[in-house]
Amino acid sequence: MKPLVVANWKMNPNSLVEAKRLFTKVKNLNAVICPPFIYLSHFSGSHRKCKLGAQDCFWEEKGAYTGEISPEMLKNLEVEYVIVGHSERRKYFKESNEMINKKLKAVLKAGLKPILCIDKISQLPKDIGNWKATLRGVPFGSRKIGNLIVAYEPLFAIGTGKPCSPIRAEKMRLAIRAKLKVPILYGGSVDSQNAKDYIKKAKFNGLLVGGASLKPKEFIDLVRSLPPR
Ligand code: PGA
Repeated sequence: MKPLVVANWKMNPNSLVEAKRLFTKVKNLNAVICPPFIYLSHFSGSHRKCKLGAQDCFWEEKGAYTGEISPEMLKNLEVEYVIVGHSERRKYFKESNEMINKKLKAVLKAGLKPILCIDKISQLPKDIGNWKATLRGVPFGSRKIGNLIVAYEPLFAIGTGKPCSPIRAEKMRLAIRAKLKVPILYGGSVDSQNAKDYIKKAKFNGLLVGGASLKPKEFIDLVRSLPPR
């Protein structure tokens, strides 16, 4: 199986012209591209090999929630993945585990694949056994939750150029795996040089890439450097 590579463009680039230029260069990679919301509709109808993801969404289905975007809106734009609980959302928008759990459930209910970002085990949902009632129709056992994907992103490594060592990252991967039987990604200062170590040495199922996903050559090299799992 190919590792899952997810590109988180964050709040970049500034214009649609630049976004289209970047997308054209990476759209045929085996990757998930998560641009800002406003660019999604421009990429959804296009001929591409990559999948589309969103960087966040709201938990309600529709209504008076100014400024928010629902999972269903994303689904209608061919979005398949949604990043949930990124550390920047937790930090700047004060998203709590409770809010993030509501988002997770809404994303799963819509049939999309949430990528839950955590930097400690306590951020994993504790009441996962009780989710069954909420997620009628989404099959999961006690440790396997529908489409859920978890990304381990240590705070010290995000956007700092100081990646976590594969040995330390693998310890966390095993700790997550002991709780949940889901694919686990590593994120935090991943580049074309260190990417394969997290797949080969630390045995992650994929990567969540920020800064390096904005540089087309770097991102293409990164995706191509990965061995199959
Ligand atoms: P980075 O960001 O690759 O720039 O460290 C990763 C992330 O925030 O998802």
